Formats: sequence, structure tokens, C-alpha cells
Amino acid sequence: MNSATTTYVRPKLGLGSAALDELEETAAVEVLRSKNLFRYYGDDPANPPQRVANLETEFAQWVGSDYAIAVSSGTTALETALAAISVGPGDEVIVPAWSWLSCVTAIVRLGALPVLAEIDETLCIAPSEIQRLTTPKTRAVLVVHYQGVAADLEGIINAAHRRGLFVLEDCAEAPGTRYHGRPVGAWGDVAIYSFQHNKPMTAGEGGMIVTRDIRTYERAVRMADLGQYRPHHHEITPPNEPAFSGSNFRMSELTAAVALVQMRKVDKIKTHCREIQQRIRSQVGELAGLSWRTIPDPAGDFGFELYFFLQDPELVKPFQAALHDRQVNCQPRTGTYPQYHRENVLTGRSHHPAASPFRDLKPWPSPGYRPEDFPVTEDLTRRFIALPIGWHYTARDADHIAESLKAVHAELLDG
Ligand SMILES: Cc1ncc(COP(=O)(O)O)c(C=O)c1O
Repeated sequence: MNSATTTYVRPKLGLGSAALDELEETAAVEVLRSKNLFRYYGDDPANPPQRVANLETEFAQWVGSDYAIAVSSGTTALETALAAISVGPGDEVIVPAWSWLSCVTAIVRLGALPVLAEIDETLCIAPSEIQRLTTPKTRAVLVVHYQGVAADLEGIINAAHRRGLFVLEDCAEAPGTRYHGRPVGAWGDVAIYSFQHNKPMTAGEGGMIVTRDIRTYERAVRMADLGQYRPHHHEITPPNEPAFSGSNFRMSELTAAVALVQMRKVDKIKTHCREIQQRIRSQVGELAGLSWRTIPDPAGDFGFELYFFLQDPELVKPFQAALHDRQVNCQPRTGTYPQYHRENVLTGRSHHPAASPFRDLKPWPSPGYRPEDFPVTEDLTRRFIALPIGWHYTARDADHIAESLKAVHAELLDG
């Protein structure tokens, strides 16, 4: 390797967090100076704070849905959405085995059974899994749009709706991603987002639920606000559902002020990532022994993480090490790994033994929760390499990544 490649200064990672500037700073300071940080009321009863309400209105418009409810995180958004569609004890929810922790914990905390599904080369749920895994107890399919790429929504929604199942879209990693011309989140019955640090838009923490269904909206508001449905929401749609014991997952004005500014930046960040990704892809082209992740709708892809598979899993570590030596970032920007390897799934426990949906499945882990039950997921996730792309990446970085990829390929696969 020559010295020019080893001394290359690798670009900084980051999406929404990397784009934070004086606009978020001004918005946050304005809220602090108002001294009114709670969404529903402040010191002046005639002028309640408006940031969370404005974020909800603008967000629903942006993703092409009717109603939005801001909450404290993507995880609480998942719990809220599942509660809103009445998922509970005795129900099953199909969820990709390759997904973030909360995709399982949210289902378990509602007392329902997560039923793990295989993924395919999209790294999202394989649509054919819905037919294989549906039972009379199945209520919903949780679809994760993994790292900015829309899952194959048409196949998934057809398979789910034909069987009377709700579709919950998890767009935590894909705000701004589109599928066949429409944003993800506007396809399913309900969708969630996260504003955690790693995401394309961030406020440190925060989440959102969107839906076109009035009942789901009212129940989501009640779940996130201790069962209440306050006057602000009566103006959006009058109450029609009985109160129930919800939790407090509310968002603060400070979070909403930052999230509003960030939301307006997402499309710009997406355009940038797509340009960098296309520059890399067009320079690398197709290489023997290496295949790109399947993207169901390339026109709508966010483009912030490029994935490719090697045929030989034994080559993944040396390939990554060689890219790393060339100052190429090549680790996924998410802590996703198969749910059946997670500690909480391996114990099968909830906060109380009687609350665990796994309590009658003996011996534990039962079939459906062991690595050997997921040959496709095991195979694919052992063979991929991720190339994250950030807001600070330049055309020069794209050229460097493309050259490095070709050089490492020639070194390890063409020999
Ligand atoms: C797919 C997915 N779902 C849900 C979440 C949960 O979001 P949060 O971290 O805001 O609770 C995340 C984020 O980490 C995620 O990546």
C-alpha cells in the first residue's frame, strides 16, 4: 500500500447530528427564553407553547399521512403504536430477526409474542415469511426499513392485508426514504420514527407515530399521555374512545424545537448521501465475488449506508481490515444484530415472570428463537460489509472509497 492511501484523513461520520448548526441553537434558545418547556401549557393560558404541535402538523404533511403524535423516543413510539392497534397478551407480531432491540422489547412489554422472520438480500423482512408465520393469533407485521432502504412494501402489505394483519412500519432508520414515489410511513396502517443521535434527523432522543386512522390516533395520544385526551387533540378529532391506563411518553418543547429544524434538513442530507453513493457505485461497477444489497426502489433510497455481500464469509474480516487500513469507514452505524443472540431473548424474561410471552415455551430457547432456525439471516449477516456515508463526506471521499474498494478486491479476490 502506498503512503498516500495510509495518510488519507477519513471523513467524519454522522447524519442529522453532523448537520446541527446555529439554526437548532437559535430554536433551542428561543424555547429556553420562553421559560415554557412543557407542550400542553405554559405560564400564559391564552398562549400555550406550539413547537410539539407544529412538529406534529409538519411531520404528518412531510410524510404524507394524516395524523402525527410526538413522543419521547423511537422505542416508546413502537410501544405506543402497538398499543394503539390493540396488540396485547395472546397476540403474535411478526418481526424480522435482524432488527433493533426495541422491535422485540416493545412487543414483549405489551405482553405479545414476537415471531421472528427471516430477512432477504434487502436486509429487510422477506415478504414470503408472512405466509409462513401467520397463525390465528397473528395481529400485525412490524416492517423495519433497515438503514435508509425501503423494504419491499408492496409484497409485504399485500401479504399482510390479505390475512387481516396490521402493518406497522418502523421508519426509525429511514425518515425521508421513499418507495414508488411515496414516503415510507405513508404505506402501512401506522408508522414510527426515532430522533436518536445516529438517525438522519436527531434531537438526541425523540420519536413520532403517524397514521391515517382516527381511532389509532386517539388511542396513541391516550397511550402516550396517561390515558388522557386533552383539548388540543379534540380540535384535531373529537374524542370517541374510552380512556385506558397509558404511560407518559410525551415530548418536550425543547426536543420539538430541535427536531423541527432537523426535519427541514433531511431532504438535503438525503440528496447529498445519494450523490456520494452513486459516485461510489458508478466507479466500482460490478466485481466478481461481490454483490450489492438489493434495493426494492433505488429511486427512493436514502443512500446513507451502502452494503455489499461477499460470497465467502471468511473474507469479510480481512476485507474490512484492508479497507480500514486505507482509512475507509466500514462498520454499520447501527447496533443491529440477530434478535436470537440478544441477552433479553436468551433469558426469555420480562420484568415479571408472569408477564413474559415466552413463559410457556419450554425448553427455552424454543424453535423459532435459535440461530439454526434462521439459515438465511445467519448467512446474509455473516457476509455483508457496510460502507456508511455521512453529511461531511465529499466527492473526494467517494473517489477514495471507490478506489480502495477496487484495490482491496483485486488484492483479496483476484489473486
Ligand atoms: C429500527 C429501529 N427501531 C426503533 C429504534 C428505537 O429508537 P430509539 O433509540 O429512539 O428508542 C431504533 C433506534 O435505535 C431503530 O433503529
